[in-house]
Amino acid sequence: MFDHPAFDGHERVVALNDAATGLRAFVAIHSTALGPAGGGCRLWHYEDAGAALGDALRLSRGMSYKNALAGVPMGGGKAVILGPVPDERRADVFTAFGRAVDALNGRYVTAEDVGVAPADLAHVATVTRYVSGIVAREGVGGNPAPFTARGVCIGLEAAARFAFGRRDLEGLRVAIQGLGGVGMNLAAALHARGARLVVADLATARRDEACDRFAATPAALDEILLADVDILAPCALGGVLTEDIARRMRAGVIAGGANNQIADAAAERALFERGITYAPDYVVNAGGIILVSAEYTRDGDLAAVDARIEAIGPRTRRILEAARTTGTPSGTVADEMARAALAGARVAA
Ligand code: NAI
Repeated sequence: MFDHPAFDGHERVVALNDAATGLRAFVAIHSTALGPAGGGCRLWHYEDAGAALGDALRLSRGMSYKNALAGVPMGGGKAVILGPVPDERRADVFTAFGRAVDALNGRYVTAEDVGVAPADLAHVATVTRYVSGIVAREGVGGNPAPFTARGVCIGLEAAARFAFGRRDLEGLRVAIQGLGGVGMNLAAALHARGARLVVADLATARRDEACDRFAATPAALDEILLADVDILAPCALGGVLTEDIARRMRAGVIAGGANNQIADAAAERALFERGITYAPDYVVNAGGIILVSAEYTRDGDLAAVDARIEAIGPRTRRILEAARTTGTPSGTVADEMARAALAGARVAA
């Protein structure tokens, strides 16, 4: 693990193997410098355990950076459960996972991510209090996806203003890859702002729903990233912006909800060379963790949560301007800002 390319000085990585339920998972705690490591739990069918570990390492580091820049009083962590999990075992697997989270004594606070439903978290919550994104207290809490989508929309607007000098999204064409909790809510928000949508999802029912509700145009799965649009919003899984896609895509702006959108350094370079404006994923998708953190720490009402989400707009703009001024890719600028915030917190601690 220490030699893994995604290892980044993580504080702790736990491998879980529960023979009784079949639970196999990793919990990666990247940093607790700013508070308990917060980050969702993902259930995915990985090619092998190494791929799952890599995902946990990358995603937990991303959470540290995301939380540091969003001003959330939490560190970064993430859990990945190796699927598939048969339906009849689901309750037991998530209860076993909850016990493992509890054994970490609050160092890691879990929440929802891809492949995990509120009902799964309800099982987790029966055995640990280190879980968030479950119940709303005066509107603060519960499913984070709509709040993530709101933040993505705000970041996307800031990126469009920066790149196209546009005050609004009226008539702009946006391609959305993935219409789950985040993508569908984003589609609704963009449609309400007059954007014209092109959409794709593995689940054709979701794609059709978006076409019906938002007069969106359907795209094939292998065409959505290359669609002839102004803005691309990746809202499915990470790693989709490969060098090949970066060289061939037609959108001038990328702003979406998925974590770790850029596959590698070569892809980042290609986007930068082509002058494509990239709104860093973890900067614009922080709305969910802002909500989850407020629910967990009981700090702030809905107005405070909204204000923190609104701040994603000016933050995105500052990062894009710094990238232009310094001739540095925007993702690198964001990483440097996050590392500085983390280093400052370590010194303070
Ligand atoms: P979800 O599981 O509700 O939706 C994902 C959707 O993407 C599904 O409808 C799935 O069918 C579709 N999809 C998967 N692979 C695809 C492909 N190759 N092409 C087209 N569609 C595909 O997940 P959710 O919650 O909407 O999250 C989406 C992304 O946003 C993930 O990367 C997640 O890590 C990230 N994110 C989610 C947050 C949240 O609050 N839910 C917070 C921050 C980031």
